[in-house]
Formats: sequence, structure tokens, C-alpha cells
Amino acid sequence: MVRHTLLEQDRLQRFSEALGAASKVFDTTGEVFFRSLTEHLGAVLHVDYVSIGELCAGGRALKTVAVSVGGKSLENLQYDLNDTPCQQVLERGRFFDHGSVQSHFPKDEFLVEMGFQSYLGVALIDSTGVRLGVMSVMSRRPLTDPKIAELTLGLFAARTSVEMERRRSGRALQASEARNRAILKAIPDVMFVLDRRGTVLDCAANTAHELYAPAEQVIGRNIRERLPPAAAESVARAVEHTITSAESSSVTCSVQTAKGLRVYDALCVPFDADNVLMIVRDVTETRTAEEELRKLPAQLLKAQDQERRRIARELHDTTAQNISALNMNLVRLEQEGVSASAARILADCRALCDASLREIRTLAYLLHPPMLDQVGLLSAVRWLVGGLQTRSGFGITMEAPPEMERLAPPLERDLFFVVQEALLNVVRHSGANTAGVRVERQAANVVVHIRDNGRGMPGAGSPEQSADWTFAGVGILSMRERLRQNGGDLGITSSRQGTTIIATVPLQTDHRTDARGPVRRGH
Ligand SMILES: Nc1ncnc2c1ncn2[C@@H]1O[C@H](COP(=O)(O)OP(=O)(O)OP(=O)(O)O)[C@@H](O)[C@H]1O
Ligand SMILES: [Mg+2]
Repeated sequence: MVRHTLLEQDRLQRFSEALGAASKVFDTTGEVFFRSLTEHLGAVLHVDYVSIGELCAGGRALKTVAVSVGGKSLENLQYDLNDTPCQQVLERGRFFDHGSVQSHFPKDEFLVEMGFQSYLGVALIDSTGVRLGVMSVMSRRPLTDPKIAELTLGLFAARTSVEMERRRSGRALQASEARNRAILKAIPDVMFVLDRRGTVLDCAANTAHELYAPAEQVIGRNIRERLPPAAAESVARAVEHTITSAESSSVTCSVQTAKGLRVYDALCVPFDADNVLMIVRDVTETRTAEEELRKLPAQLLKAQDQERRRIARELHDTTAQNISALNMNLVRLEQEGVSASAARILADCRALCDASLREIRTLAYLLHPPMLDQVGLLSAVRWLVGGLQTRSGFGITMEAPPEMERLAPPLERDLFFVVQEALLNVVRHSGANTAGVRVERQAANVVVHIRDNGRGMPGAGSPEQSADWTFAGVGILSMRERLRQNGGDLGITSSRQGTTIIATVPLQTDHRTDARGPVRRGH
């Protein structure tokens, strides 16, 4: 009885020693905590080996965070959980074998090699109950006091679990910070954190930027101090909208900088309850390029108009005059008296001259625009059709309402161009002998049909011809572009019996899509 009491006292003495050791270790954190814990634990429990391991490899292995043998820390190591007592710990929460662990785990080479007999292990668990790892002690002899050892290990395991969880979340935080840093580094924009009043709380820029000044010159200042009033007003509205709605908002503004007038896109996203993150991108170059691109089709079409006038003038003033002169020379030659066979050749040449003159005059006529602005679309088309009929010998009909209101001048010009270009194609490519132009004034559209009874477009009528025609020339492309700029479109139907071009434009287009300004309604 006395002896029993002495033993009890001894146990309690050692337990309180363990607690004393623990209290010292508990003041530390991180790697120091793990290392000193294993060292202390070895000494207090009189065990040969103490290890704290963290689950890794998808839960199939343990990687030690601290190991001590005989009270001295060793290099960390990683081992497979299969057929080890640690696997039992993870399955059951704790596992003790006080004397015959080697024979129970004969495949655990480490146990066998080290000659360990006793094993005590407790699972390390995070605050949500997830297993994080194992804390274990091993000894070559049976443990002197297994009960005390179990209690002590349990006590240390709770604190170790907390430390391991903290280490994990620290690592996760570091990884996410590193990720965020990498993302921020990759963004070429300037970033500002702004409060509701538009005061800059923080700012960052990866590259030299016109908008960016050293943080100390920007932080604490208000956007109204740094931006022109109009830009500051729109940014303030975007910031307010993002804070009240928790939705992102964007704004484009122009700012005069040392480099001249720059255009910026600013995107505001919710940052935290009261602030927004504003990401600012210099879009000056992109905007200028877009603007240039937008003007390009209109510029090309204008160049085409000018080129046509030039060709028409050349044909009329030079080529046609030369052929007339040639014709007159041929007449004079005839009058000089030539042999019968030479006279036949001369007559042939004169016929060719006449045909060429007619063709050149027809083309020049078709290329030369009439006084469209003065007479209006219908009269101009009638004039074109009539003139073509007398010059080409084509049978051309014209159907149109007796009267039609004037359309916006650019629209009239483009529709006239389409008729002119389509008739030019009829003359040049169709081989037709009749053609027709029909102008329809519908409720919401003006539709113009130009049809011929020629051979059709190349490939027309063949089964391979798809609905979309692809063309080598620019005639049809420019017709299409002109109609598109007026919100309309171009239809083509073509078969071996002829071709019809259908141009449709809406009358209610509010804005033209080219750079020539908004459409003015006709009256
Ligand atoms: N009415 C038509 N009948 C038969 N083929 C046509 C007709 N209109 C156009 N084509 C065919 O479509 C092609 C493309 O016409 P488009 O007006 O685009 O170019 P182009 O007349 O050849 O050259 P450009 O108009 O640039 O001087 C023509 O080359 C011709 O083969
Ligand atoms: Mg053409």
C-alpha cells in the first residue's frame, strides 16, 4: 500500500515535470515550437524517439516537421504510411503498443532497423476535425509509465495541432499572397484604392505611367485635386455606384498629361465595404487606332469616287478625242483614194473606232456622277438610265414612284453609287441586252433593284455556288460597304438567266456608322 502510494507520487511528480516543460515550449511558435517540443518530450518521457509528422502526398505519407533522437533534433524525413503504426493512429485517433510494436508491424523497416519495442501515437487534428498528422514517441524498451506517457502525449498533441493548423494557414496565406503579387505584377495598369469621397488610400503601378506619381504624393489626396473637373466627376460617379451597388463600373476619361491628351479606361471594383479598387488603363493608342480604322472605309470610298471622276475625265477628254482623231484620219485616207481591199480594211477600222468610241463614252458616262445634290436621287437615276439607253443600245427600263422625298445627301450619294456600279457591271460583265432599275419607297426602307438578263455571275446556277459570293473586284465590296454604312445591306441573286442586285437601306437610321456625321432626315 505504501509502495503503491510512493509510485503514485512519483508518477504525479513526473507528470508535473512534463507540464513544466510544456509551459516553456508553449511560449514559442513555428519551427522552434516543434523542435523544442520533441526534444523536451523525449527527456520527460524517457523515450528514444519523438516525431511530429504532417500528412502529405494526398494523405499517403507523413513528412516530419520535427524529429528528435535521444533529445537531439534530426533532419526531417518523409515515409509511407502503409503498414506503419502511424497509419493506425490516423484511422483510430490514437494508438498505443507498449511492448511488441515490432512484431505487430514487421513490414515497417524503420521500426525493425531501430529496434523499437514500444510505440505511442496521437493524431493531430485541426479545428474542423480534419486529420493533419501524427505525434508519436518510440522506445527500444517497454515504457516505464505508459499511463503518464499517454496523458502527456495527449496534452501536447492538442497544442501541437493548433500550431500545425496555424502553420498550414500561414502557408496558404503566403501562397495566396504570392499568387496575388504575381497577378498584380502581370497587370500593366495603375491601381488605386479609393474611399467613397474619392480619397486615394493606396496606389501601385508596375511600369512607368503618366498617371502615377510616388505613393507619398498621391496617398491621402483626392481625385479632384489630381484630375480635371469633368474626369474627376465621372470617376466620382463610378466610385459611388460601385460602393452603393457592390457592382463594378467603368468610365472613360481624357486627361491632359505631359505626353499630351491621353484617354484612360478606369474600372472600379468593390474592394471592401467602404472602398473601391480602381484599375486604370491608358487606351489612347487603341482608341486612336480604332478611330482611324473607323474612318478608313469612308476614306477609301471617297478615294474611289475621286479616282472614278479622274478616269471618266481621262476617257472622255483624251482617249475619246484620240479615237475621234484617228477616225478622221481614216476618212482622209479613204478620200485620198486607195485600192478596193485597202478600202475594206479602212472601213473595218472605222467601224472599230465607232464601237470603241461608243463604249468609251458609255463607260465615261457611267463613271461620271451627275448633279445629284441638285436634282435628287430619282432624277439622277432616271438621267443615268436614259443616257445609258441612248449610248449603249441597251433596252433599260426604269420603274420608280412618281415622286419621292429627298433623302439625306450621303444616303442619296451612296444609293446612286450602287445603281451606277451595278449598271457598270451589267455593261462590262453580263452580256445582257436588257436591264431594269426599280426604286421602291417602302414604309421603313428604300429598296433599289438592278436586274439584267445576262449570263449570270461566274459559277451562278452551279450546285457548288454557296449563298455568299466571293468577288475579285472592289465594285461589289464597295456597294456593300456603302449600304452597311447606312444601316442597310446588299442582296444578290444570280442564275444563268441573269443577275439581280437588291440594295436595301432603312430610312430611320439615327446615326451613320462612318465618320461623315449623323444622318439628316430628308424632307
Ligand atoms: N451583272 C453581272 N453579270 C455577270 N457577272 C457579274 C455581274 N456583276 C458582277 N459580275 C461578276 O462579279 C465580279 C465582281 O464584280 P465587281 O464589281 O466586284 O468587280 P469588277 O467589276 O470585276 O471590278 P471593279 O468593279 O473593281 O472594276 C465581276 O468580275 C463579274 O465576274
Ligand atoms: Mg464592277
